[in-house]
Amino acid sequence: MNPKDIKFFRKFFREYVKKFYSDAEIDAQIKINMKLKQAHTYLVYRNILFLSKSLNLKEEEINLAKAIALFHDIGRFEQLKHYKTFLDRKSESHSEIGLKILDEKGILDKMDDGEREILISAIKFHNVREVPKNLNEKDLFFCRLLRDADKIDIFRVWIDYFEHKSGYDPSYGMDLSVSNEYSVHIISDILANKISPLENVKTHNDIKLLLLTWIYDVYFDASLNLILKRKYIREIFKILPKNKEMKKICKHINFYISER
Ligand SMILES: [Fe+2]
Repeated sequence: MNPKDIKFFRKFFREYVKKFYSDAEIDAQIKINMKLKQAHTYLVYRNILFLSKSLNLKEEEINLAKAIALFHDIGRFEQLKHYKTFLDRKSESHSEIGLKILDEKGILDKMDDGEREILISAIKFHNVREVPKNLNEKDLFFCRLLRDADKIDIFRVWIDYFEHKSGYDPSYGMDLSVSNEYSVHIISDILANKISPLENVKTHNDIKLLLLTWIYDVYFDASLNLILKRKYIREIFKILPKNKEMKKICKHINFYISER
């Protein structure tokens, strides 16, 4: 993949997304959420570029990583239009929708076989809880790269939302309660160094705690360093209740990070 391909893919993405905004059948609230996903895409693109450079990838590998970031959530727009939710379990997997679109629009044909295979597996497995163990080394590498770059920006999306720094609503279609309660299951997952399933999330506090469990799934040190540099963990604790249990998990997470 070369810079010309990336230029073409960026133009395709820009024009593809633009069509949704001029679609009179889509209401304004959905369009706001489409803007969220568009902005998210460009920031995941920036994150993946930063990580690729930190990992000293070759130019063609960096270009492939850019294409993966650019297209990873392209299925979100159709998902929002048809199902009015971000929840895959209430609709269908947005990565599968995205891959279908890339195929139908002839985008996958523009890549060589090796690149296509890597891009497909990275996108396909970017939103599953665990990456399949039987992936080959290259597929696994790019999948991890995307998952890290994606997670880093999702931290930002939620923190901005809770701190009222954005007009977007990432909880759209999730029916989260604003009560001060939180799930004991997510707390025990944090203490067991385990990523918690989305099914455990019922309240705003739950989503904040779920984000904390993602720290166990961050693969590259460069990703963890970026999360720490941007103070996302500290910001999440700021917007969680203040009690003994939170102090305990804060200590646990900080210890995990320092030992990693
Ligand atoms: Fe996604």
